[in-house]
Amino acid sequence: MSLVLILILTCVICHFIRTKCKIFTIGRRIPGPRALPLIGNARMITKLKPETLFKTVCGYRARFGETYRLWLGPELWVFLHSPEETREALNDSTLTRPATFQQLSVLIGNGLLISQGKHWETHRRVLNPAFHPLVLNSFASTIAMHGDELVVALRATEGKPLDVSHFLFACILDVIIKTSMGKHLNSLTDPHNQYTQAFHKNSELLFKRMTNPLLGLDFVFKCTNMYRELHASLAVIHDLMNSVVDTRIQALQVQGDLELTSPSAAAADDKGIRKQRRTLLDTLLTVEIDGQKLSRNDICDEVNTFVFAGVDTTTAAMCFVLYSLGNYPVEQHKLIKELEKHSIIRAILTSDTLKHLEYLDLFIKEVLRYYTIVPLTGRQTYTDSVIGGRHYCAGITLWINIYGLAHDDCYFEAPEEFRPERFTKTQSQLLPPNVFIPFSSGPHICIGRKYALLIMKILTVKILLNFEVELRDPNEELVLQAQMVLKALQGFNF
Ligand code: HEM
Repeated sequence: MSLVLILILTCVICHFIRTKCKIFTIGRRIPGPRALPLIGNARMITKLKPETLFKTVCGYRARFGETYRLWLGPELWVFLHSPEETREALNDSTLTRPATFQQLSVLIGNGLLISQGKHWETHRRVLNPAFHPLVLNSFASTIAMHGDELVVALRATEGKPLDVSHFLFACILDVIIKTSMGKHLNSLTDPHNQYTQAFHKNSELLFKRMTNPLLGLDFVFKCTNMYRELHASLAVIHDLMNSVVDTRIQALQVQGDLELTSPSAAAADDKGIRKQRRTLLDTLLTVEIDGQKLSRNDICDEVNTFVFAGVDTTTAAMCFVLYSLGNYPVEQHKLIKELEKHSIIRAILTSDTLKHLEYLDLFIKEVLRYYTIVPLTGRQTYTDSVIGGRHYCAGITLWINIYGLAHDDCYFEAPEEFRPERFTKTQSQLLPPNVFIPFSSGPHICIGRKYALLIMKILTVKILLNFEVELRDPNEELVLQAQMVLKALQGFNF
């Protein structure tokens, strides 16, 4: 018996050494900064601050070329920087999400952001229609209503300097919870609401853990206060989710709607007959995969995924929109002129009205390029793969440098200048594919991208119609902490 055990152990160790040798050989052929024995570049990586991280990573491009590597102990990280490698990596179905993403499973279970293979494929297929333009159009009035609440909350600050991120987080959480679950959370009007605090805490702790390799180790994390705080906030979120799902199932049973399967058809109905707006949760409750409805766990996982993937990203994007309005008064002026030209002051905001606002579209694209909300996304090799002509074995993490591509002067003239005009139709036709990918590309492209743009456009218009945005200190470097002054505009009857 003990001989068998020794044999198995020897095989496992040999396999481990063989794999690590393969990874080591591949890593040695890729240029990168000098690595110390055993720890590699880990000391340098943990010393980087968030605000310098991407500049450093992009600086390596100038030093080492388009593909370079870092060693995190025995783990090999390869940074891909060319549009071609990016396209190949994002479209390679043998690659999976990096192992660190699995830390999100406590909140989002096996939701789209981390699921793989057939599970991801079938869920993505049945969820795509939940973001159909007709469904999103039906959300416009709800978003506009929450935008009005935001204006009221901001007016109450009476032009005092403020950090807008709290207001935007609460507003966008309300929007996404209302449109995805049909529940009015009231985060803006009641900031001490236990659910708002739980969502806030949860995202903060999960991001902290994901960006600290030491906390990635389960046994270390379980000894921290963060672990207990995380589980307390998770309990609140899962309770909310269960009660909302129960209430919605009952409501749909009463309406006899549980048999509906086409979200776009339901959205079309919404225009006239159906008064009750269809939510993303309704889609999840009614779709079928191979004749089977989704399980309660699957449903909760996907709704939690929308909230997790949607709220922080859209909030950060809106913070940068406001920062840019304050930082570039000329741009703010151009946007106001556009609203006046199309008489938006009196119009009801719908996707159709927004289509006329071409400069707003350019401005938001430039915000997404300049501030790149998701600067990196990762893929893990699971088997032998070839990307950009280079051979990789299993167990290597590939990082796609979305920020680096968006700031590369090979593709963008004067990338450090804020110029919305670079996205006019004629200019953007000159851009090669896969260099401006704020929502990623390939099969995992952000499912909520049109939804995020709709929220951003409606909230930006609401702000522009009601306030003049000024930065308290235009030299403020840390954008999310920048204090703004929102001077209420006179004359518009809000
Ligand atoms: C400005 C706002 C947003 C940005 C910048 C953003 C960015 C991204 C990026 C870059 C990815 C792809 C990651 C990868 O390729 O590995 C992604 C995926 C995803 N996003 Fe977004 N996102 C935003 C808003 C939203 C919203 C509002 C929702 C939902 C309501 C959402 C839901 C998702 C989901 C579910 C995925 C995973 C898709 C899949 O793998 O099939 N996102 N997002």
